[in-house]
Amino acid sequence: MSTPTTEFFDSPDRTATAQALAEAFRAAYGTDPEGVWSAPGRVNLIGEHVDYTGGLCLPLALPHRTFVALRPRTDGVVRVRSVQEPDEVAVPLDEVGEGSPEGWAAYVAGVPWALLRKGFEGLALTGGFDALVDGHVPYGSGLSSSAALECAVAVALGELVEAPLDDTGRAGLAGACQLAENVVAGANTGGMDQAASLRCHEGGAILLDTDDDSVAQVPLDLAGAGLALLVVDTRAEHSHAGGEYGARRADVEHAADVLGVPNLRAVPFADLDAALDRLDGDVLRRRVKHAVTEIERVRRTAELLRAGRPAEIGDLLNASHDSLRDDYEVSCRELDLTVDVARAHGALGARMTGGGFGGSAIALVRSQDVAAVADAVAAAFAEQGLTAPRFLSALPSAGADRDL
Ligand code: GLA
Repeated sequence: MSTPTTEFFDSPDRTATAQALAEAFRAAYGTDPEGVWSAPGRVNLIGEHVDYTGGLCLPLALPHRTFVALRPRTDGVVRVRSVQEPDEVAVPLDEVGEGSPEGWAAYVAGVPWALLRKGFEGLALTGGFDALVDGHVPYGSGLSSSAALECAVAVALGELVEAPLDDTGRAGLAGACQLAENVVAGANTGGMDQAASLRCHEGGAILLDTDDDSVAQVPLDLAGAGLALLVVDTRAEHSHAGGEYGARRADVEHAADVLGVPNLRAVPFADLDAALDRLDGDVLRRRVKHAVTEIERVRRTAELLRAGRPAEIGDLLNASHDSLRDDYEVSCRELDLTVDVARAHGALGARMTGGGFGGSAIALVRSQDVAAVADAVAAAFAEQGLTAPRFLSALPSAGADRDL
């Protein structure tokens, strides 16, 4: 039985949202948009904090998407408005660069800037555009709302400059979005979120190899196995998350230097103990242990999914969380509470997902247990005086594309 505290965050109908946005664009700019495009947020099933050290990740796209209605201009100005933010931001493209513009417009204006730097060409990248954004990926929840915005803009501009939109073309767009995020928005993240938003397909996760940027589709028929992936947005935001993320990156880069390898992917799981012996300090050893064991857990998870045995991945999800909590130290009270309560109420496995220090957790549950697990988590948060969490269902959904 659902209690009133258990709020599910649904995704609206895609076509209706796109049509309404085209209408709103006409009202805002007095002309039709060239089209409406959208891109999804993501959850990562497993493979956390390894995308900046050549590791493997298994993200899937959420049904929750960010939409952008867009029309090219010719004067080199990007004008952007959002259904969620009343004010218009106007940015001349020649003022886009490191740290500029500030705020959410970086994820829009940074994209043509980055596409040009990645070798894409076309008037749509230099002439500017008018855009109206409608975001339905929960913001600040570790579900990649910023990547969804970048990727919706990228797929729109990619189509307008006639870039190929096969997987190779999408990999190129994802690389540009990551560049925009790293340089213009100033967040030094890996490339998992953008790859998930652009390269996922309905019904599956992707096995993303961040060492060579290759992707393999992995089937994820949870409903067919009587399972569901419950996402818990803990609503916890941690202000120091940016600095901590950079510190973890610095740790693994330093460890790779000491070990004389390009990244930690180059440390085979079988050689972990020997590698740990060559490192100084308990902290550095735990960071490396997390990365190397996590990459191995991704391999095993992908094998089980390919063998059609999704009910057996729970222990790997649990081990991933424990490693992120104890060895990588990127969890927090709200994430640990969610995971503990979900496990105690029948989840087959549960873990934090995304960057951590707040944000969201996932729980693999039997379909009939979804409401009970969500209610138990909501009750535990209420009991501890925490902000009520939000819940989402993670149905593996399609990557970025044109809607209208
Ligand atoms: C954030 C980053 C990703 C990745 C995850 C952790 O979501 O944007 O690149 O590093 O954290 O797996």
